[in-house]
Amino acid sequence: MQHTTPHHRRRRRVPRPLFVVGALLAAGIVALPPLAPDASAATTLRGHADARGVRIGAAVADGPLRSEAAYTTVLDREFNSVTAENAMKWDALEPNRGSYNWGAADRLVDHATSHNQGVRGHTLVWYAQLPSWLKNGNFTAAQLNTILQNHISTTVGRYKGRIYAWDVVNEAFNEDGSMRSSVWQDKLGTAHIASALRWAHTADPAAKLYINDYNIEADNAKSDALYALARQLLAQGVPLHGVGFQSHFVLGGVPASMKANLKRFSDLGLEVSLTELDIRIPLPASGAELAQQSTDYKTASENCLGVPRCAGVTAWGLTDKHSWVPGTFSGYGAALPYNEGYGAKPAYTGLSNGLNPNA
Ligand code: G3I
Repeated sequence: MQHTTPHHRRRRRVPRPLFVVGALLAAGIVALPPLAPDASAATTLRGHADARGVRIGAAVADGPLRSEAAYTTVLDREFNSVTAENAMKWDALEPNRGSYNWGAADRLVDHATSHNQGVRGHTLVWYAQLPSWLKNGNFTAAQLNTILQNHISTTVGRYKGRIYAWDVVNEAFNEDGSMRSSVWQDKLGTAHIASALRWAHTADPAAKLYINDYNIEADNAKSDALYALARQLLAQGVPLHGVGFQSHFVLGGVPASMKANLKRFSDLGLEVSLTELDIRIPLPASGAELAQQSTDYKTASENCLGVPRCAGVTAWGLTDKHSWVPGTFSGYGAALPYNEGYGAKPAYTGLSNGLNPNA
Protein backbone atom coordinates (compact mmCIF):
# COMPACT_ATOMS: atom_id res chain seq x y z
CA MET A 1 0.00 0.00 0.00
CA GLN A 2 1.27 3.46 -0.93
CA HIS A 3 1.94 6.01 1.76
CA THR A 4 0.49 9.27 0.60
CA THR A 5 1.04 11.61 3.50
CA PRO A 6 3.20 14.66 2.69
CA HIS A 7 5.72 13.35 5.19
CA HIS A 8 6.21 10.06 3.38
CA ARG A 9 6.17 11.68 -0.04
CA ARG A 10 8.98 13.96 1.12
CA ARG A 11 11.09 11.04 2.35
CA ARG A 12 10.58 9.02 -0.81
CA ARG A 13 11.52 11.80 -3.19
CA VAL A 14 14.89 11.20 -4.87
CA PRO A 15 17.28 14.12 -4.23
CA ARG A 16 17.79 16.04 -7.47
CA PRO A 17 21.54 15.35 -8.06
CA LEU A 18 21.02 11.64 -7.47
CA PHE A 19 18.03 11.68 -9.76
CA VAL A 20 20.11 13.30 -12.52
CA VAL A 21 22.90 10.73 -12.12
CA GLY A 22 20.32 7.93 -12.15
CA ALA A 23 18.82 9.24 -15.35
CA LEU A 24 22.23 9.52 -17.00
CA LEU A 25 23.11 6.00 -15.90
CA ALA A 26 19.84 4.67 -17.24
CA ALA A 27 20.43 6.41 -20.54
CA GLY A 28 23.92 4.93 -20.72
CA ILE A 29 25.45 8.42 -20.82
CA VAL A 30 27.60 7.82 -17.77
CA ALA A 31 28.90 4.56 -16.35
CA LEU A 32 29.86 3.81 -12.79
CA PRO A 33 33.43 2.59 -12.27
CA PRO A 34 33.68 -1.11 -11.42
CA LEU A 35 33.20 -1.72 -7.70
CA ALA A 36 36.38 -2.48 -5.81
CA PRO A 37 36.28 -6.03 -4.45
CA ASP A 38 36.84 -4.77 -0.92
CA ALA A 39 37.39 -1.50 0.89
CA SER A 40 41.19 -1.80 1.08
CA ALA A 41 41.42 -2.35 -2.68
CA ALA A 42 40.52 1.29 -3.16
CA THR A 43 43.88 2.24 -1.68
CA THR A 44 46.02 -0.14 -3.74
CA LEU A 45 47.60 0.77 -7.06
CA ARG A 46 45.19 -1.53 -8.86
CA GLY A 47 42.27 -0.10 -6.91
CA HIS A 48 43.09 3.37 -8.24
CA ALA A 49 43.78 2.05 -11.75
CA ASP A 50 40.55 0.02 -11.85
CA ALA A 51 38.58 3.07 -10.77
CA ARG A 52 40.10 4.99 -13.68
CA GLY A 53 39.72 2.18 -16.17
CA VAL A 54 43.46 1.92 -16.86
CA ARG A 55 46.19 -0.64 -16.36
CA ILE A 56 48.87 -0.63 -13.71
CA GLY A 57 51.38 -3.31 -14.60
CA ALA A 58 54.63 -4.89 -13.58
CA ALA A 59 57.20 -6.87 -15.53
CA VAL A 60 57.35 -10.33 -13.99
CA ALA A 61 60.34 -12.65 -13.78
CA ASP A 62 59.65 -16.36 -13.74
CA GLY A 63 62.03 -17.23 -10.88
CA PRO A 64 60.41 -15.19 -8.11
CA LEU A 65 56.94 -15.85 -9.54
CA ARG A 66 57.56 -19.52 -8.81
CA SER A 67 59.38 -19.24 -5.52
CA GLU A 68 58.71 -16.05 -3.55
CA ALA A 69 55.43 -15.66 -1.71
CA ALA A 70 56.09 -11.97 -0.99
CA TYR A 71 56.55 -11.36 -4.71
CA THR A 72 53.21 -12.81 -5.72
CA THR A 73 51.45 -11.23 -2.73
CA VAL A 74 52.53 -7.75 -3.83
CA LEU A 75 52.01 -8.49 -7.52
CA ASP A 76 48.46 -9.71 -7.08
CA ARG A 77 47.39 -7.10 -4.57
CA GLU A 78 48.79 -4.08 -6.41
CA PHE A 79 48.81 -4.78 -10.17
CA ASN A 80 46.06 -5.45 -12.68
CA SER A 81 48.44 -6.17 -15.55
CA VAL A 82 51.62 -8.18 -16.06
CA THR A 83 54.34 -8.32 -18.70
CA ALA A 84 56.78 -11.20 -19.08
CA GLU A 85 60.19 -9.69 -18.40
CA ASN A 86 61.90 -12.36 -20.52
CA ALA A 87 59.65 -15.40 -20.95
CA MET A 88 58.03 -14.37 -24.25
CA LYS A 89 61.23 -13.33 -25.97
CA TRP A 90 62.32 -15.43 -28.92
CA ASP A 91 65.36 -17.02 -27.24
CA ALA A 92 63.18 -18.16 -24.36
CA LEU A 93 60.35 -19.48 -26.55
CA GLU A 94 62.28 -21.22 -29.32
CA PRO A 95 65.86 -21.92 -28.19
CA ASN A 96 66.16 -24.64 -30.83
CA ARG A 97 64.50 -24.27 -34.19
CA GLY A 98 61.03 -25.78 -34.25
CA SER A 99 61.11 -26.72 -30.57
CA TYR A 100 59.06 -24.36 -28.43
CA ASN A 101 59.34 -23.94 -24.70
CA TRP A 102 56.10 -22.39 -23.44
CA GLY A 103 56.55 -23.23 -19.76
CA ALA A 104 57.36 -19.84 -18.26
CA ALA A 105 55.10 -17.90 -20.62
CA ASP A 106 52.13 -20.19 -19.94
CA ARG A 107 52.81 -19.96 -16.22
CA LEU A 108 52.54 -16.18 -16.30
CA VAL A 109 49.42 -16.10 -18.46
CA ASP A 110 47.75 -18.70 -16.23
CA HIS A 111 48.76 -16.77 -13.12
CA ALA A 112 47.32 -13.58 -14.57
CA THR A 113 44.07 -15.29 -15.52
CA SER A 114 43.57 -16.65 -12.04
CA HIS A 115 44.31 -13.26 -10.43
CA ASN A 116 42.16 -11.19 -12.74
CA GLN A 117 45.11 -9.49 -14.38
CA GLY A 118 45.58 -8.58 -18.02
CA VAL A 119 48.72 -9.54 -19.92
CA ARG A 120 50.91 -7.36 -22.15
CA GLY A 121 52.86 -9.52 -24.59
CA HIS A 122 56.56 -8.68 -24.95
CA THR A 123 57.99 -8.94 -27.61
CA LEU A 124 57.81 -10.31 -31.15
CA VAL A 125 60.26 -8.40 -33.37
CA TRP A 126 63.49 -7.33 -31.70
CA TYR A 127 67.16 -7.22 -32.57
CA ALA A 128 68.13 -8.74 -29.19
CA GLN A 129 67.56 -12.00 -27.32
CA LEU A 130 67.32 -13.98 -30.52
CA PRO A 131 68.27 -17.66 -30.38
CA SER A 132 71.65 -18.40 -31.94
CA TRP A 133 70.14 -20.60 -34.66
CA LEU A 134 68.32 -17.50 -35.90
CA LYS A 135 71.07 -14.93 -35.25
CA ASN A 136 73.74 -16.99 -36.96
CA GLY A 137 71.60 -18.77 -39.53
CA ASN A 138 72.53 -16.54 -42.48
CA PHE A 139 69.01 -16.88 -43.84
CA THR A 140 67.81 -15.28 -47.06
CA ALA A 141 65.23 -12.51 -46.98
CA ALA A 142 62.52 -14.92 -48.12
CA GLN A 143 63.43 -17.39 -45.38
CA LEU A 144 63.50 -14.67 -42.70
CA ASN A 145 60.10 -13.44 -43.82
CA THR A 146 58.65 -16.92 -43.39
CA ILE A 147 60.43 -17.48 -40.07
CA LEU A 148 59.06 -14.20 -38.70
CA GLN A 149 55.55 -14.86 -39.95
CA ASN A 150 55.55 -18.32 -38.39
CA HIS A 151 56.86 -17.01 -35.07
CA ILE A 152 54.21 -14.32 -34.87
CA SER A 153 51.34 -16.55 -35.96
CA THR A 154 52.38 -19.29 -33.53
CA THR A 155 53.01 -17.05 -30.53
CA VAL A 156 50.14 -14.60 -30.90
CA GLY A 157 47.84 -17.44 -31.92
CA ARG A 158 48.67 -19.45 -28.82
CA TYR A 159 47.54 -16.64 -26.53
CA LYS A 160 44.70 -15.36 -28.68
CA GLY A 161 42.13 -13.65 -26.47
CA ARG A 162 44.39 -13.75 -23.40
CA ILE A 163 46.81 -10.93 -24.22
CA TYR A 164 45.26 -7.49 -24.45
CA ALA A 165 48.28 -5.78 -26.01
CA TRP A 166 51.45 -6.91 -27.77
CA ASP A 167 54.75 -5.08 -28.12
CA VAL A 168 54.97 -6.29 -31.69
CA VAL A 169 58.06 -4.28 -32.59
CA ASN A 170 60.67 -3.36 -30.00
CA GLU A 171 63.52 -0.84 -30.24
CA ALA A 172 63.59 -0.46 -34.02
CA PHE A 173 65.24 2.99 -34.03
CA ASN A 174 68.65 4.48 -33.38
CA GLU A 175 68.95 7.62 -31.26
CA ASP A 176 69.30 9.82 -34.37
CA GLY A 177 66.02 8.50 -35.78
CA SER A 178 67.53 6.17 -38.36
CA MET A 179 66.46 2.54 -38.37
CA ARG A 180 68.56 0.29 -36.15
CA SER A 181 70.52 -2.45 -37.82
CA SER A 182 69.06 -5.89 -37.03
CA VAL A 183 68.51 -9.25 -38.65
CA TRP A 184 65.10 -7.95 -39.73
CA GLN A 185 65.98 -4.44 -40.85
CA ASP A 186 69.12 -5.49 -42.69
CA LYS A 187 67.47 -8.17 -44.81
CA LEU A 188 63.81 -7.12 -45.01
CA GLY A 189 63.97 -3.33 -44.68
CA THR A 190 61.42 -1.22 -42.82
CA ALA A 191 58.61 -3.14 -44.55
CA HIS A 192 59.05 -5.88 -41.93
CA ILE A 193 57.28 -3.63 -39.41
CA ALA A 194 54.04 -3.42 -41.38
CA SER A 195 54.23 -7.14 -42.16
CA ALA A 196 54.66 -8.01 -38.48
CA LEU A 197 51.71 -5.86 -37.44
CA ARG A 198 49.49 -7.43 -40.11
CA TRP A 199 50.46 -10.98 -39.14
CA ALA A 200 49.85 -10.24 -35.47
CA HIS A 201 46.46 -8.73 -36.25
CA THR A 202 45.44 -11.80 -38.24
CA ALA A 203 46.47 -14.05 -35.35
CA ASP A 204 44.55 -12.07 -32.71
CA PRO A 205 42.29 -9.32 -34.09
CA ALA A 206 41.35 -8.14 -30.59
CA ALA A 207 44.88 -7.49 -29.30
CA LYS A 208 46.15 -3.92 -29.36
CA LEU A 209 49.36 -3.85 -31.35
CA TYR A 210 52.21 -1.61 -30.24
CA ILE A 211 55.55 -0.30 -31.34
CA ASN A 212 57.69 0.04 -28.22
CA ASP A 213 60.93 1.93 -27.64
CA TYR A 214 63.12 3.79 -25.13
CA ASN A 215 64.33 7.39 -25.19
CA ILE A 216 61.20 8.38 -27.10
CA GLU A 217 59.52 9.99 -24.08
CA ALA A 218 60.85 13.44 -25.00
CA ASP A 219 60.26 15.26 -28.25
CA ASN A 220 63.52 14.38 -29.97
CA ALA A 221 64.96 12.92 -33.18
CA LYS A 222 64.03 9.37 -32.21
CA SER A 223 60.43 10.14 -31.27
CA ASP A 224 60.09 12.32 -34.39
CA ALA A 225 61.13 9.38 -36.54
CA LEU A 226 58.69 7.05 -34.78
CA TYR A 227 55.95 9.64 -35.13
CA ALA A 228 56.58 9.85 -38.88
CA LEU A 229 56.52 6.05 -39.20
CA ALA A 230 53.34 5.76 -37.13
CA ARG A 231 51.57 8.33 -39.32
CA GLN A 232 52.67 6.53 -42.42
CA LEU A 233 51.54 3.12 -41.15
CA LEU A 234 48.15 4.49 -40.15
CA ALA A 235 47.74 6.17 -43.54
CA GLN A 236 48.44 2.79 -45.15
CA GLY A 237 45.81 1.09 -43.01
CA VAL A 238 48.35 -1.01 -41.12
CA PRO A 239 46.94 -2.29 -37.78
CA LEU A 240 49.02 -0.20 -35.41
CA HIS A 241 47.09 0.65 -32.23
CA GLY A 242 49.57 2.01 -29.74
CA VAL A 243 52.99 3.31 -28.87
CA GLY A 244 54.84 2.05 -25.82
CA PHE A 245 57.14 4.52 -24.08
CA GLN A 246 59.49 2.34 -22.08
CA SER A 247 60.41 5.15 -19.66
CA HIS A 248 63.68 3.91 -18.21
CA PHE A 249 64.62 7.15 -16.46
CA VAL A 250 67.50 8.34 -14.36
CA LEU A 251 66.60 10.27 -11.19
CA GLY A 252 65.29 13.74 -12.05
CA GLY A 253 65.21 12.81 -15.71
CA VAL A 254 61.52 12.80 -16.59
CA PRO A 255 61.59 14.98 -19.71
CA ALA A 256 59.78 18.32 -19.63
CA SER A 257 58.30 17.65 -23.07
CA MET A 258 56.97 14.19 -22.15
CA LYS A 259 53.26 14.97 -21.84
CA ALA A 260 53.12 17.04 -25.04
CA ASN A 261 55.08 14.35 -26.84
CA LEU A 262 52.70 11.58 -25.72
CA LYS A 263 49.77 13.77 -26.69
CA ARG A 264 50.90 14.10 -30.30
CA PHE A 265 50.82 10.30 -30.61
CA SER A 266 47.46 10.15 -28.88
CA ASP A 267 46.21 12.80 -31.30
CA LEU A 268 46.91 10.34 -34.12
CA GLY A 269 44.27 8.11 -32.51
CA LEU A 270 46.86 5.78 -30.98
CA GLU A 271 46.90 4.43 -27.45
CA VAL A 272 49.89 5.50 -25.42
CA SER A 273 51.30 3.47 -22.51
CA LEU A 274 54.33 3.62 -20.26
CA THR A 275 55.57 0.08 -20.68
CA GLU A 276 58.80 -0.31 -18.67
CA LEU A 277 58.90 2.50 -16.12
CA ASP A 278 61.78 2.58 -13.67
CA ILE A 279 63.85 5.43 -12.22
CA ARG A 280 67.41 4.60 -11.28
CA ILE A 281 69.38 6.28 -8.51
CA PRO A 282 73.13 6.36 -7.87
CA LEU A 283 73.71 4.02 -4.92
CA PRO A 284 73.39 4.31 -2.02
CA ALA A 285 70.14 6.24 -2.40
CA SER A 286 69.69 9.09 0.09
CA GLY A 287 66.37 10.12 1.64
CA ALA A 288 66.31 13.20 -0.59
CA GLU A 289 66.86 11.04 -3.66
CA LEU A 290 64.06 8.66 -2.69
CA ALA A 291 61.80 11.69 -2.27
CA GLN A 292 62.80 12.99 -5.71
CA GLN A 293 62.12 9.53 -7.12
CA SER A 294 58.63 9.65 -5.65
CA THR A 295 58.01 12.96 -7.43
CA ASP A 296 59.38 11.48 -10.66
CA TYR A 297 57.05 8.46 -10.45
CA LYS A 298 54.09 10.78 -9.92
CA THR A 299 55.08 13.10 -12.76
CA ALA A 300 55.75 10.25 -15.20
CA SER A 301 52.44 8.51 -14.50
CA GLU A 302 50.51 11.79 -14.64
CA ASN A 303 52.18 12.59 -17.95
CA CYS A 304 50.56 9.49 -19.37
CA LEU A 305 47.23 9.56 -17.56
CA GLY A 306 46.78 13.23 -18.41
CA VAL A 307 46.72 12.39 -22.09
CA PRO A 308 43.65 11.05 -23.90
CA ARG A 309 44.05 7.36 -24.81
CA CYS A 310 46.62 6.58 -22.12
CA ALA A 311 45.99 2.88 -21.53
CA GLY A 312 48.17 2.56 -18.46
CA VAL A 313 51.54 2.39 -16.81
CA THR A 314 53.76 -0.67 -16.36
CA ALA A 315 56.82 -0.69 -14.10
CA TRP A 316 59.76 -2.84 -15.17
CA GLY A 317 59.55 -5.02 -12.09
CA LEU A 318 58.12 -4.37 -8.66
CA THR A 319 61.00 -4.83 -6.23
CA ASP A 320 64.60 -3.57 -6.29
CA LYS A 321 65.52 -7.13 -5.39
CA HIS A 322 64.88 -8.26 -8.98
CA SER A 323 65.63 -5.24 -11.12
CA TRP A 324 67.74 -5.37 -14.29
CA VAL A 325 69.25 -1.95 -13.43
CA PRO A 326 72.27 -2.76 -11.18
CA GLY A 327 73.47 -5.43 -13.62
CA THR A 328 73.45 -2.98 -16.51
CA PHE A 329 74.21 0.43 -14.98
CA SER A 330 77.09 -0.06 -12.62
CA GLY A 331 76.60 1.93 -9.38
CA TYR A 332 72.89 2.52 -10.00
CA GLY A 333 69.82 0.80 -8.59
CA ALA A 334 66.85 1.31 -6.25
CA ALA A 335 64.76 1.99 -9.37
CA LEU A 336 61.40 0.41 -8.44
CA PRO A 337 58.48 1.16 -6.07
CA TYR A 338 59.37 -1.61 -3.56
CA ASN A 339 62.69 -2.07 -1.80
CA GLU A 340 64.58 -5.34 -1.59
CA GLY A 341 62.61 -6.37 1.50
CA TYR A 342 59.26 -5.73 -0.24
CA GLY A 343 58.69 -2.53 1.72
CA ALA A 344 56.83 0.21 -0.16
CA LYS A 345 59.20 3.11 -0.93
CA PRO A 346 58.25 6.77 -1.32
CA ALA A 347 58.14 5.92 -5.05
CA TYR A 348 55.11 3.73 -4.32
CA THR A 349 53.28 6.72 -2.89
CA GLY A 350 54.30 8.85 -5.85
CA LEU A 351 52.96 6.26 -8.27
CA SER A 352 49.80 5.83 -6.22
CA ASN A 353 49.20 9.59 -6.19
CA GLY A 354 49.85 9.73 -9.92
CA LEU A 355 47.13 7.13 -10.48
CA ASN A 356 44.65 8.59 -8.02
CA PRO A 357 42.92 11.67 -9.43
CA ASN A 358 41.76 12.63 -5.91
CA ALA A 359 45.25 12.62 -4.36
O1 G3I B 1 68.24 -17.30 -19.30
C1 G3I B 1 69.66 -17.17 -19.09
C2 G3I B 1 70.14 -18.22 -18.19
O2 G3I B 1 69.95 -19.47 -18.79
C3 G3I B 1 71.60 -17.97 -17.87
O3 G3I B 1 72.06 -18.89 -16.95
C4 G3I B 1 71.82 -16.57 -17.32
C5 G3I B 1 73.27 -16.24 -17.09
O4 G3I B 1 73.53 -14.87 -17.30
O5 G3I B 1 71.32 -15.66 -18.25
C6 G3I B 1 69.95 -15.82 -18.50
O6 G3I B 1 69.52 -14.87 -19.41
C7 G3I B 1 69.44 -13.56 -18.94
C8 G3I B 1 68.00 -13.10 -19.07
O7 G3I B 1 67.90 -11.74 -18.73
C9 G3I B 1 67.04 -13.91 -18.19
O8 G3I B 1 67.37 -13.74 -16.86
C10 G3I B 1 70.35 -12.69 -19.76
O9 G3I B 1 71.69 -13.00 -19.50
C11 G3I B 1 70.10 -11.22 -19.46
O10 G3I B 1 70.83 -10.44 -20.40
C12 G3I B 1 68.64 -10.92 -19.59
O11 G3I B 1 68.45 -9.56 -19.31
C13 G3I B 1 67.22 -9.02 -19.70
C14 G3I B 1 67.42 -7.98 -20.79
O12 G3I B 1 66.16 -7.42 -21.13
C15 G3I B 1 68.02 -8.59 -22.05
O13 G3I B 1 68.16 -7.66 -23.04
C16 G3I B 1 66.59 -8.37 -18.49
O14 G3I B 1 66.27 -9.35 -17.51
C17 G3I B 1 65.32 -7.62 -18.89
O15 G3I B 1 64.86 -6.84 -17.81
C18 G3I B 1 65.61 -6.70 -20.06
O16 G3I B 1 64.41 -6.09 -20.48
C19 G3I B 1 64.52 -5.12 -21.51
C20 G3I B 1 63.23 -5.17 -22.31
O17 G3I B 1 62.98 -6.47 -22.77
C21 G3I B 1 63.29 -4.18 -23.48
N1 G3I B 1 63.61 -2.86 -23.02
C22 G3I B 1 64.79 -2.73 -22.17
C23 G3I B 1 64.69 -3.69 -20.99
C24 G3I B 1 65.84 -3.50 -20.05
O18 G3I B 1 67.04 -3.88 -20.68
